[in-house]
Amino acid sequence: MCGIIGYTGPLSAKEIILNGLTQLEYRGYDSAGIALCMESSYIRMLKKTGKVSNLKEASKQIKEVSHSGIGHTRWATHGCVSENNTHPHQAGRVTLVHNGIIENYHQLICQFGLEKKLKSETDSEVAAWILDSFYQGDPAEAIGRLLPLLEGSYSFCIMFEDCPGEIYAVRSVSPLVAAYTHSGALVASDLTALIPYSRQYFVLPEKHLLKLTAYSAKVYTFEGREIMPEIIEADWNMDAAMKHGFSHFMLKEIHEQPEALNQTILPRLTDGIPDFSQDGIPDSLLKNCTRIQIAACGTAMHAGMAARALIEPLVRIPVTVSIASEFRYEEPLIDKNTLVIIISQSGETIDTLAALRLAKNYGSPTLSVVNVKGSTIARESDYVLYTHAGPEIAVASTKAYSVQLAALYLLSCRLAYVKGRFNLDQAKGFTNKLLSSIPAMKEVIKCKNEIQAIGNEILSAADIFFIGRGLDYSFSLEGALKLKEISYIHAEAYAAGELKHGTIALISPGVPVVAIATQERILGKTLSNVKEVKARGAFVILITKEETEISPGLADVIFRIPQIEDRFTIFPIAAVLQLIAYFVSVGKGLDVDQPRNLAKSVTVE
Ligand code: AGP
Repeated sequence: MCGIIGYTGPLSAKEIILNGLTQLEYRGYDSAGIALCMESSYIRMLKKTGKVSNLKEASKQIKEVSHSGIGHTRWATHGCVSENNTHPHQAGRVTLVHNGIIENYHQLICQFGLEKKLKSETDSEVAAWILDSFYQGDPAEAIGRLLPLLEGSYSFCIMFEDCPGEIYAVRSVSPLVAAYTHSGALVASDLTALIPYSRQYFVLPEKHLLKLTAYSAKVYTFEGREIMPEIIEADWNMDAAMKHGFSHFMLKEIHEQPEALNQTILPRLTDGIPDFSQDGIPDSLLKNCTRIQIAACGTAMHAGMAARALIEPLVRIPVTVSIASEFRYEEPLIDKNTLVIIISQSGETIDTLAALRLAKNYGSPTLSVVNVKGSTIARESDYVLYTHAGPEIAVASTKAYSVQLAALYLLSCRLAYVKGRFNLDQAKGFTNKLLSSIPAMKEVIKCKNEIQAIGNEILSAADIFFIGRGLDYSFSLEGALKLKEISYIHAEAYAAGELKHGTIALISPGVPVVAIATQERILGKTLSNVKEVKARGAFVILITKEETEISPGLADVIFRIPQIEDRFTIFPIAAVLQLIAYFVSVGKGLDVDQPRNLAKSVTVE
C-alpha cells in the first residue's frame, strides 16, 4: 500500500523524506515522489516511476536547501503506473499526497467541473483541486470543508504554498502516525519511517487535524480544540528493521522465529500454563463463549484455519473461519456469546478492520491478535493479544504467522482449561509440547541447504499443488500462498482427500505435489492420496516426521521434521514451507522482499 511521509524541522527535508520513503518501500509500491518547500517558499516537486532509488538519483539535481516537505510511494489503485499519476499532486496552492481510495471521485469531478483541470487519472488529484477551491488562507477551514464530501478511505499529507514550513495531515481508516523529535516533526504511514528519529509516537485520531511545524506536532478537532494524543512507546528500534547480513529480510525473519515465539509465549506463562491477566483478557471472556468466529486475510486467515483445526476437537465448540473481505458483507450468525477473533499482523488491513467493526455492531466481544502496537485494529478491539515478532519488513509473512499460531495455541489451551476440558496437568503438558515445537523449528532452519535443493527441483514448474489433511491442510494453504506470492508460480492448496473430485485431472507427469503428512491419526489416508498422484506421474515432495515409514518409490523427495506430536508440528512445518518458497524465489532471481503487485498492509479495498 502507499507510503506517506512528511517532515518539517531544522534538517534537510530532502534527505529525511527520501530515507523515510526507503523505510516505507516494504509496504509495496510502483512509483515515488517528493515535494519540497524551498527557501523562497515555492514548492518543488519530483516524481519517478520504479524504485525509490530512481527518485534519489534524480533528486541530486535539487541543490537548494529545504526544511519541510512530503513524500509518497504509490501502490496504484486509480490509473496506471506513470509519472503523471505519481504523487504528490499539485493543484493551485495545494500540494498533497494520499493513501486510500475516494470512492465518489467521479461524482466529485462532475460536481466541481474538474474534467479539464486534471493532469492525472487519480482520485487524489481530485481532492487537491477541491481543497484548493476551498482554500482562503485557513488550512483547517478548507480541509474541514473537504472531508464531508469524501466517501471511502484516506490519509492525506498536505502543504499550502503560502504556509511555508507547515504540514497538515488528516485520516479516515488509512493509517497515520506522527512524532515531534529533536530532529523536527514527522508524520508517516507507519512507524518504520519514524523509528530512526524517535521511539515515542502517536496515532493521529481519525478526522482530526494534525499540524506540524518545526517546533511542534499538534492535533486539533475541526472545531479548533487542541487534543493531547496518547504517546506510545515503540517496542522495537531501528536495529530491528535492518537485514544484519542476511540477503533478504524474509530470510532474516525466518531465522528470527524461534526468538519471536519465545517473546510471545514465555511472558504469558504462569505456573507453566497460559495466563492472559497481563493482557487484560479475563477468563470469563473465554469461559462464556459458546462459539468462535475468526476473521482475517491471507496468511492471518491461514493461522485462523490452523486454530480451528486445533480448537474444535479440543474444546468442542464450533469455530468458523471467514475471509474478512467476505465476512464484512455478510449477515453473520454471531451474537454476544460469540467470541470474534480478529487476526492481523499490521493491524491496519482494511477488510479485517471492517470485519471487526461489523462484529462489534452485532454485540460480539472482539479479541484481536495483532503484531503492531497501537494499530487501528488493536485500538478498536475490546481485547488485544499482542504478538511480539518485532517489525516484519518482508511482504511475505513468516514470523508473524508463527507468532499468530503461538498466540492462538495459547488461547486454545486457556480456553480448554477454563472450560474444564483440560486439568492443570493437561494444560501444562500441552504448553510444554508447544514450547518443544520451537527447538524443532530451529532444527529445520538448520537444514536450509537441504531445503534449498528441494526448491531448486521446482524452479521451472508452472503449477504446483500442496496437499494435506486436517492441520496439514491448513499448513498447505499457507505453503501455497508463500510460494505464489514470492515466486509467481501458480500454486494451489487442496485437502488431500478432495483431489479425486476433479483436480487430480491436472496431475500429469512431472507436476510437483508437495504432500504434508504429519498427522499420524490420518496418515494412511494421506499417503493413499500421495500414491494416487504418484501413479499419475507427479513429482512428489513429501514432508513428514522423522519416524514415519514411507514405502520406497512413494515420493521423489522426502523431508523429515523432528518427531513431535501431531498438534505441534506447526512451527517446523511453517519453516519448511517458508524456506521452500524463499529458495524458489531466490533461484528465480526475483525480488523476495518486495514481490510485484503486493503490499505489506492492504489498506485499500
Ligand atoms: C502474507 O504473506 C501476505 N503478506 C498477506 O496475505 C497478509 O497475510 C494479509 O494481507 C493480511 O495482512 P495482516 O496480517 O497485516 O492483516
